[in-house]
Amino acid sequence: MATYDLVVIGTGPGGYVCAIRAAQLGMKVAVVEKNSTLGGTCLNVGCMPSKALLYSSELFEEAGHSFGKMGIKVSKPELDLPALMNFKQQGIDGNVKGVEFLMKKNKIDVVSGTGKVLGTGKVEVAGADGKSQTLETKNIVIASGSAVANLKGIEIDEKRIVSSTGALSLEKVPEKLIVVGAGVIGLELGSVWRRLGAQVTVVEFLDRILPGMDGEVAKQFQRMLEKQGMTFKLGAKVTGVDSSGKVLKANIEPAAGGAAESLEADIVLVAIGRTPYTAGLGLQEAGVALDERGRVKIDHHFATNVKGVYAIGDVVAGPMLAHKAEDEGVACAEILAGQAGHVNYDVIPGVVYTTPEVAAVGKTEEELKTAGVNYTVGKFPFTANGRSKVNQTTDGFVKILSDAKTDRVLGVHIIGREAGEMIHECCVLMEFGGSAEDLARTCHAHPTRSEAVKEAALAVGKRAIHM
Ligand code: FAD
Ligand code: NAI
Repeated sequence: MATYDLVVIGTGPGGYVCAIRAAQLGMKVAVVEKNSTLGGTCLNVGCMPSKALLYSSELFEEAGHSFGKMGIKVSKPELDLPALMNFKQQGIDGNVKGVEFLMKKNKIDVVSGTGKVLGTGKVEVAGADGKSQTLETKNIVIASGSAVANLKGIEIDEKRIVSSTGALSLEKVPEKLIVVGAGVIGLELGSVWRRLGAQVTVVEFLDRILPGMDGEVAKQFQRMLEKQGMTFKLGAKVTGVDSSGKVLKANIEPAAGGAAESLEADIVLVAIGRTPYTAGLGLQEAGVALDERGRVKIDHHFATNVKGVYAIGDVVAGPMLAHKAEDEGVACAEILAGQAGHVNYDVIPGVVYTTPEVAAVGKTEEELKTAGVNYTVGKFPFTANGRSKVNQTTDGFVKILSDAKTDRVLGVHIIGREAGEMIHECCVLMEFGGSAEDLARTCHAHPTRSEAVKEAALAVGKRAIHM
């Protein structure tokens, strides 16, 4: 029987990063993975494939719409969907191989099969060949991630009624696509298929898109997506999909009640959130407590109620984001090694990788209002940013929220191209408890879109230069 310091169940960004950090700190580590490839949701059917499709579909649209105005003459671009999917797959394979390499480099044993927690110090692994083995270990980290949330009464077949997984691998561009849920997945994958030619209708239960994001940003973003050709039905829910005919018929009802309507589609994408994945882990038998939403309950040190059993990532509370899972993986490994591992949950950026991108860190205006915090807003539009003007990419703005008394930055919201890259200087500033004045007095290279961040910080003190 093999003996380890740490066995990690799951090799998504939470699990594999935790394993690497633990190995760096001198622990003997094994990872257990039931999937045939490493990397979890993120690398196989999440972050990475969706970003590959967002990239290629964006270039496809640009070639058709934007090149001409820059004086670049190309004939009408033609879509080769199998080749585009192959481009995506090559990206997935490259990243998955990268994780395999990192496991070898850090001398981490990869055990293939489904891991089950037998209690403190023991993990049973059932291989695909039906054979089982038991790993002995000082500590166990559960990093089993999340799975698609189902919509009652609608069966996902991953062919015509799909989750994000099916939507990443459609064999044909749908003529009509209905997206259920105007969250991150719905808007990213809805954008991909709209760019490739689908007519996209997004049905959202709430009266706004992207709940949780700053309201002003969400409103502007919706307008931009509508201008691109996406249709929104807000305050509405899909209560059933009739798949008996050649064309799907979705039954849509107002959330507040009222007359239903039927909408036709070739594909329906269900993107109403994800749920923690704990099936097959034997948590009930092992006595590991879950919370009211089925997430593994942990304390501030990622410890469950069972000695030596920890949990991180999508399977525990908090935003379901790869970088949150990674940071928890690092912190958990450091705590196991006796160090002071820590995650600052107040500074976790969130990015929607559409065009334009939406990026946020810290509090929204709505959250500050609810908390009764006195704040100042500094805003700067990309229409007034030289680089954006010259590139004709002026959609969006930067909005900085700072404490009215201390000037400490409490939240930053950016909508615009490259917002997902630009947000990070604000994250660093907030990590160090910096003020809008600190940002405003930091020299920014010219001409960059990041100058809009500096100008928004100057606008907090009502002294933006270019506005
Ligand atoms: P996962 O990545 O889900 O990995 C869990 C792993 O555990 C899986 O490989 C699973 O097979 C394995 N496992 C589960 N149970 C067992 C068991 N009993 N035994 C053995 N193995 C087991 N986040 C971002 O930050 N940025 C993005 O751009 C982004 N895009 C996304 C796009 C899509 C379409 C989706 C679906 C998600 C996206 N996410 C994104 C979310 C991101 O994928 C997750 O937050 C992240 O993968 C969570 O990491 P994790 O390690 O907790 O779990
Ligand atoms: P989400 O929670 O972002 O959005 C789900 C949306 O569906 C919400 O707007 C919700 O109000 C709506 N909804 C719920 N029930 C509904 C119903 N019955 N009818 C109509 N609308 C309904 O979830 P999503 O988009 O599925 O993403 C899951 C997770 O994956 C998220 O937590 C997200 O963090 C992560 N993710 C992150 C990405 C990124 O960081 N760029 C990209 C994709 C996913």
